[in-house]
Amino acid sequence: MGNQDIVKNNFGSKALNYRLSSTHSNSDDLERMINFLKPKHNDIVLDIATGAGHTAIAFAKVNSNVVAIDITKEMLLQAQIASKQASVDNIEFLEADVHNLPFRDNFFDIVACRFAVHHFYNVQKTLKEMCRVLKPEAKFYILDCSVIDGDETEMVINRLEALRDSSHVYSLSKRQWIKLLKDLPLEIKNIDLLKRQYKLPEWFDRMGTNNDNRQKIFELLNNLSENSKSFYQFSQTFIDTYYIEIIAKKL
Ligand SMILES: C[S@@+](CC[C@H](N)C(=O)[O-])C[C@H]1O[C@@H](n2cnc3c(N)ncnc32)[C@H](O)[C@@H]1O
Repeated sequence: MGNQDIVKNNFGSKALNYRLSSTHSNSDDLERMINFLKPKHNDIVLDIATGAGHTAIAFAKVNSNVVAIDITKEMLLQAQIASKQASVDNIEFLEADVHNLPFRDNFFDIVACRFAVHHFYNVQKTLKEMCRVLKPEAKFYILDCSVIDGDETEMVINRLEALRDSSHVYSLSKRQWIKLLKDLPLEIKNIDLLKRQYKLPEWFDRMGTNNDNRQKIFELLNNLSENSKSFYQFSQTFIDTYYIEIIAKKL
């Protein structure tokens, strides 16, 4: 199975969990995004990999035109249910792959993508696509899972994430993001690493991680060096985690 099929399979069977997820619906993170981007009412917004629609709905409350794409039908269905529940009717939902966006160049005022880049098999191509569809001077926003800079954390935390969800490709560290962003037509305004915690067992349950893999994840965490462990504290009820938040303007 290719990565896109694994994504569709994993998210297709767990779509409802993502509509109900406290991580994805976290209103502080969504408000933070809106406060940073300050969208104008008539801005045309693209939400990439909308999942159950939390990001698209946050924009639809302040913007007139929102387009939301995702590769997984079942997630789009949950996003439509969530938008009805939020009394929002100004989102156009489309089944599409971020690697080949079905939009013309220089079209959107804002492109946002939350909690999804780590699933993309060719991140460079997807970032180029996001830049292509943005108007010059328009706003670019990414929030994604990340890892602490360092050979051990970059390898082990990604291994752990893939054990939890087989559609995980790679969470980039801040140093890896900085390298990648250099080649894009973007002026970077902010690139911040945000510390958060995943609640357990909720984080495992959301993706239906089996018991064997849960066990292996704790083994990986226990075997981290003392230095890495200081960044990744954990217990049976939580794991420390990090998000990368990138705000940029298209040149
Ligand atoms: C965790 S969910 C996204 C959450 C959502 N953005 C939010 O803010 O709540 C990840 C989504 O990425 C989508 N996805 C993964 N690969 C994709 C691709 N190549 N193109 C479009 N969507 C993709 C999955 O179908 C899934 O719905």
